[in-house]
Amino acid sequence: MKVVEVENFVDPSFSADLIGWQKVHGRHTLPWQNTRDAYLVWLSEIMLQQTQVSAVLGYYARFLERFPTLRDLAAAPVEDVMAQWSGLGYYTRARNLHKCAQRVVAEYDGVFPSDPLLLAELPGIGRSTAAAIAAFSSGRRAAIMDGNVKRVFARVFGIDTYPGEKKTEEAMWRRAEALLPEEGIEAYTQGLMDMGATLCTRSSPSCERCPMQPRCVAFNTGRTKDLPVRKPKKAVPEKHAVMLLLVDGDQVLLEQRPPSGIWGGLLSLPELDGHVAAEDDEVEPVDQDTLKLAVSKFGEMENCERLSTVTHVFTHYKLHIAPYRITLSRRLTLAAESGHVWLNAADVANAALPAPVKKLLLELLGNRNAAQQRMF
Ligand code: ADE
Repeated sequence: MKVVEVENFVDPSFSADLIGWQKVHGRHTLPWQNTRDAYLVWLSEIMLQQTQVSAVLGYYARFLERFPTLRDLAAAPVEDVMAQWSGLGYYTRARNLHKCAQRVVAEYDGVFPSDPLLLAELPGIGRSTAAAIAAFSSGRRAAIMDGNVKRVFARVFGIDTYPGEKKTEEAMWRRAEALLPEEGIEAYTQGLMDMGATLCTRSSPSCERCPMQPRCVAFNTGRTKDLPVRKPKKAVPEKHAVMLLLVDGDQVLLEQRPPSGIWGGLLSLPELDGHVAAEDDEVEPVDQDTLKLAVSKFGEMENCERLSTVTHVFTHYKLHIAPYRITLSRRLTLAAESGHVWLNAADVANAALPAPVKKLLLELLGNRNAAQQRMF
């Protein structure tokens, strides 16, 4: 029988505990609190996007001195708005603020709508900001979701997938909707913000003072430091190369690399173009004819042996090198300008070679088969 898991995020005790805590321990005297004036609330929410309360306080007061009402702001030249915003950062917010003021004057006769869906259609107001404005200015039930809320949720509910990932974020929104209180949306919304900013901080959270401690999965399983999980590192790209170890007696053929790009100007082993990956960490075998042709300008291929793949890790990618050890039965004279040299085994250690190439050659020399008396 197929078991379908049904998510049930509803839990009225969460909002009850949070509201209870906010009323006693939360913030109540911020300049944008204790008002239902949507202009004052909207301005604060825009200024507080990605910006801390301490940075906003001065700007908020000066802005309202210069633009006391929404109509003052809408009528002002955008340059004056930008000047007041100067230093607060993220200047798209200021341009959108001005546009939004003009839209509210033109479309809503200067009165912000109370419906969060309508608010979210205005410039600079996303889903979460719309919910905060609607909650604080109209007591409308709507869910907020920002970095602080994600951190609180990840810890309290033990969410161990990356909150920036779409699926996790969508589930967090559903959870946020399900947890909304029937009453007291203002204290609840402010409580979530206050908890995230003052208790459930990124580093060294104050768990001993937290009203969520008894239910906090992170606290109770010792994972406060690990939640929310950090952005997963991008998998490094994997590249593949076929390198030719052309061996003649105790000499190996090297090729001058082009001056720019990886290993620019160094001597390295000749490479085959157009090789493919068999798997992420393996290189497709190369057929004899292809090798013969590649070798033909240096001599006649006698014997060919594929050596184990060597992986070299760079900062931004991994390189899997498939070396082919090829002996020549007849060696052609190299043109002086060909960019190739035959290097003596004795000179490998001191030659200007890329690290993985030198390692490969030294390993071959170290493992050389005494019975066969070969150098490489
Ligand atoms: N961050 C976003 N909105 C806020 C608010 N109303 N109070 C404190 N911090 C906030």
